[in-house]
Parts: sequence; structure tokens; C-alpha cells
Amino acid sequence: MPRKSKKNIDSDLKKQEALKKSGEIPTHIAIIMDGNGRWARMRGLPRVAGHREGVESVRDIVEACGQLGVKYLTLYAFSTENWRRPQDEVSMLMRLLMKALRDEADKLNKNNVCLKAIGDITKLPNPVQNELLDAIVKTQNNTGLNLLLALSYSGRWDITQAVKKIYYDCRSGNLDIDSINEDIITKYLSTQGIPDPDLLIRTSGEFRVSNFLLWQLAYTEIYISKLNWPDFRRDELYKAIADYQKRERRFGMISNQIKQKKN
Ligand code: IPE
Ligand code: IPE
Ligand code: MG
Repeated sequence: MPRKSKKNIDSDLKKQEALKKSGEIPTHIAIIMDGNGRWARMRGLPRVAGHREGVESVRDIVEACGQLGVKYLTLYAFSTENWRRPQDEVSMLMRLLMKALRDEADKLNKNNVCLKAIGDITKLPNPVQNELLDAIVKTQNNTGLNLLLALSYSGRWDITQAVKKIYYDCRSGNLDIDSINEDIITKYLSTQGIPDPDLLIRTSGEFRVSNFLLWQLAYTEIYISKLNWPDFRRDELYKAIADYQKRERRFGMISNQIKQKKN
């Protein structure tokens, strides 16, 4: 990415300050990073070029979220269903992931980012798992942005693994079946302890959830960007947050109740 001039940094800081003043910054943002392949195709490039440029967007968005004071950022990087892609694309994505983790771990650490992963990590090739664990351990005591990478993840996988663990705990007597409620189920999901996303962003103009955080998205505000992920940089993130700030989150209630609560 080209180095930013002082003028650009100053104008970016101003935009961030304006956003912090104009409303609440979402605590948890989740992103379905889509459109890398189309970005490349539009330029007559191989798909790998789109994925590489997508890593640049990840860098920019992670940094901007940290600066804005977002507490959790969950990035959908590889879904359970993505294993069905052609073998060479899957291998290329795994290599790229490994390289990105290796290249970025120190910078994430310097920026006080705490890296976590959700998903069926055991399905990833061993070298990728090792690189991932190294980066997680390196950043585990950081107190800034929590960056959750969803890898070999799907919402149905998450619910399924939760059901299995609940069954085992009931069978061993650690959990009473009659005590199971929504809070208990939430604790068995891979996102335990993490508040549900306030804002879900999907890029490339696609209007679907693609098996992302199915349980956790129950009351999340959705923002669809027409841009392909490699073109999605911080200015577009600011637009999404500004849009979010205009929404009224009613959680099933009526507008007057929400207004009374605020006052
Ligand atoms: C998102 O871009 C990256 C992953 C799903 C791994 P795509 O690879 O899905 O790009 P399109 O949708 O084909 O353009
Ligand atoms: C969703 O993108 C998964 C990730 C961004 C990792 P896909 O490109 O796999 O989604 P579909 O297949 O278009 O729904
Ligand atoms: Mg796609």
C-alpha cells in the first residue's frame, strides 16, 4: 500500500473524530469479505491477485477499527463451504493466509491487537495452524482491538459443535438439561464471551449471510457495500458506520420505548 502523507493522515484523523462525535461506534463489527475473484476478473488478472489485494484491505480496516475504538472485529476469511472450491484455489488461499499471519503478527502485536480464531481450526493444514497459534499466543495479552478470524467457519458448524458439547456436559452431569436457555447456548458457541455483532458488512453487493454467524446475527444491523473487498478501504468503513449511526435498533419494541430508554 502506498505510504500515507501527513496531510492524508490528518484528514483521516478528522474523519474519525467526526464519526466518534456523530454517534456510537459499534462495539462489534463483522464483515463478509466478498468479491476478490470479481475484482481480479474485472482487471483480467488471476483470482490470486484479488485475494492478495484483499489482504491490503484487511490491513487497512483492522488499523482503522483499532483507531476508532471498535472492540471486536470478526472477519469471515474462509467458510466451511469454501473447502469445496477447486483444490488449487484452496491451497493458494491457505498459503496466502500463512504468509499474511507471518508478515502481520508483529504489527498486530505493536498495534495492541488481540488475535483470535473461530471455526474448525483442526481442518486447516498443520503449518497454517502453527502460524495461527503463534500469532494468537504472541498477541494474547493485548488490550486493544479483538480481531476474530473466522476460518473453516460456518454458523451451522458453530451451532452443531455447541449442541455436541451441551450433550456431553449433560451426560456427565455438569449441565442440567432444564437449565438450558439462550444464555447457556450462547456460552457454548465459539464466540462465547463476545457480544453479538452490532453491524454486519457484506461487500460485492451480495445480499446473503452465506452461513456466517447465524445465531449471533439475530439483531445485527446489515450494511451492503457494492464495492468488491479489495476496493473496500477505511473511507467505505466510515460510510458504513455513519449509516449504522442513523439506524434505530428496536429489538422487537416500538420506537417510543427506545426513545424513553435513551432519556
Ligand atoms: C472472497 O472473495 C474470499 C473468500 C471467500 C475466500 P471470493 O473469492 O468469494 O470472490 P468472488 O465472490 O468469486 O468474486
Ligand atoms: C462468503 O463468501 C465466505 C467468505 C467471505 C469467507 P462466498 O463467496 O463463499 O459466498 P457465496 O458462495 O457467494 O455465498
Ligand atoms: Mg464470493
